Amino acid sequence: MSRSIRRAKREDIPGIVMLEKMSMGPLWSDEGLEYEMESMEEFVRERFTCDNMWVMEDKNGDLLAFLHSTNYKDAISSNMICEIYTIIIHPEHFGKGIGGELMEHQRKIALEEGMDIMKLEVLSNNHRAIRFYNQKGFQERKKVMAMHLNCHEDNGRGSPDTMPFPLLDWLMENKDTRYDLATSSMPPNSLGDVMCTEPNITLGVDPGITVELEEAIGSLYGDEVHVMVTSGTQAANTLVLSTLLRPGDTVLTEEPSYPSLHIVPSVLGMKLELLERSFDQGFLVREDVLYECISSRPRMVVLTDPHNPSGVYMGPRALTRIYETLEMWDSLLLVDEIYRDFLPDSSSALDLGENVLVTSSLSKVYGFAGLRIGWVATRNKELMKRLRRAKEHLMPNNSVLSERVALEIIKNRDSYLSVSRNVARRNLKLVKGWVDETQGVRWVEPARGIISFPRLDVSVSTVEFAKEARDKGVLVVPGEFFGSQKWLEGHIRLTFKLDEHELKKGLELLSHTLSACR
Ligand SMILES: Cc1ncc(COP(=O)(O)O)c(C=O)c1O
Repeated sequence: MSRSIRRAKREDIPGIVMLEKMSMGPLWSDEGLEYEMESMEEFVRERFTCDNMWVMEDKNGDLLAFLHSTNYKDAISSNMICEIYTIIIHPEHFGKGIGGELMEHQRKIALEEGMDIMKLEVLSNNHRAIRFYNQKGFQERKKVMAMHLNCHEDNGRGSPDTMPFPLLDWLMENKDTRYDLATSSMPPNSLGDVMCTEPNITLGVDPGITVELEEAIGSLYGDEVHVMVTSGTQAANTLVLSTLLRPGDTVLTEEPSYPSLHIVPSVLGMKLELLERSFDQGFLVREDVLYECISSRPRMVVLTDPHNPSGVYMGPRALTRIYETLEMWDSLLLVDEIYRDFLPDSSSALDLGENVLVTSSLSKVYGFAGLRIGWVATRNKELMKRLRRAKEHLMPNNSVLSERVALEIIKNRDSYLSVSRNVARRNLKLVKGWVDETQGVRWVEPARGIISFPRLDVSVSTVEFAKEARDKGVLVVPGEFFGSQKWLEGHIRLTFKLDEHELKKGLELLSHTLSACR
């Protein structure tokens, strides 16, 4: 039978996917085939960008086999390596010498390209394959050294149950402290406030309500936005990270940070790179620093905007150039915008382009943290399709009651926003006055909102300071709980959602604590 080998072309993708499918046999006959096919196609398409793909076809142009390899320089030995990732032969053509022919072709190419070693991986119990490759001139190297690249397996911090969460512990342990200048949500509203007047809400699963709510949220961002409702921002962030990234992928995120944005990618086995947002730089992400960091080509950059804990707002314009670079590499940008609605004139990072995802919820600005309604929004239909499938597996259906109430809140959004923005404006002025007149406190004035991260001039760590303040009746959060940099010890997260009188009392007690700790 006449057959020939040539470089694969993009038109071969469906044929290659079929070969992959056949090589996986019964795995493909399960439900969910359509989804798997898509991800396989994406996988094959991706490989075209950097690797070598060869196909063998018969005289009618039907694909008989394909081979995928990549060339690189081994950093330790300096050998040039041609590594074969996959050889797939159409099952109808087994035993016709196709494997040997492809391998010989690859050997010649590798020689022409100046490679020193050709290698591939075979499971040690696959004796047939070992015999075959021995015959082709490969030698088995027993002493292959391997190490876990997921460093978290080594330091015992690989699963969520072993991850400390001091911020949450601190807030829970001290929740009865008289003046709360620590938590970052508006005071909770009640069901009565929502005035949800329909007594006959059915409590079966109701996809109609979900669609209505998603459309209502989508309309807040403009046209052609895809929205998926989740159980809070936390679930939205977790879904994005767990669905769109793989273990070993690099995630670049900020420090100081809301702790979950470090913990979740870590437990998912991703490599974390941290981008410092320092007091001296006004807690902004310096474009040149971010630019330098993204030269390591993270698969995803994760930011909060406004920033938790500092409350500083960057806005999408500051991210345009970075975004363009990320887009070039097909990397993604996730922006947690949970505090953005406090700001009357802000715009969403969503408008930067197709590779952006934004998350938010009704927890902070609207005062409905217990409702557990959040969302992820993107203009990228494909990403949303993947997220929806993942949600179905991992956390299907939100509470229909919460979704119904949330719809009402979104419809009356302006009245909630006007209350929150008034509180934020009034309190920011008040706290600014306190910072200006209090010795030993400096801050980067936050954007309108209710969180800030002042620096204190005290002789103790801010954990000690916060304990002292708590004993006097006012709760703040030690800066140490937002990262591991030493300088965080000099900061507290100070929030201001209380009414005027309570806030003044809280700040007064804080002044006493400052005097005691200087
Ligand atoms: C930046 C950030 N993202 C997410 C969350 C979690 O919010 P949710 O209640 O919407 O899950 C918080 C809560 O403090 C937060 O500060």
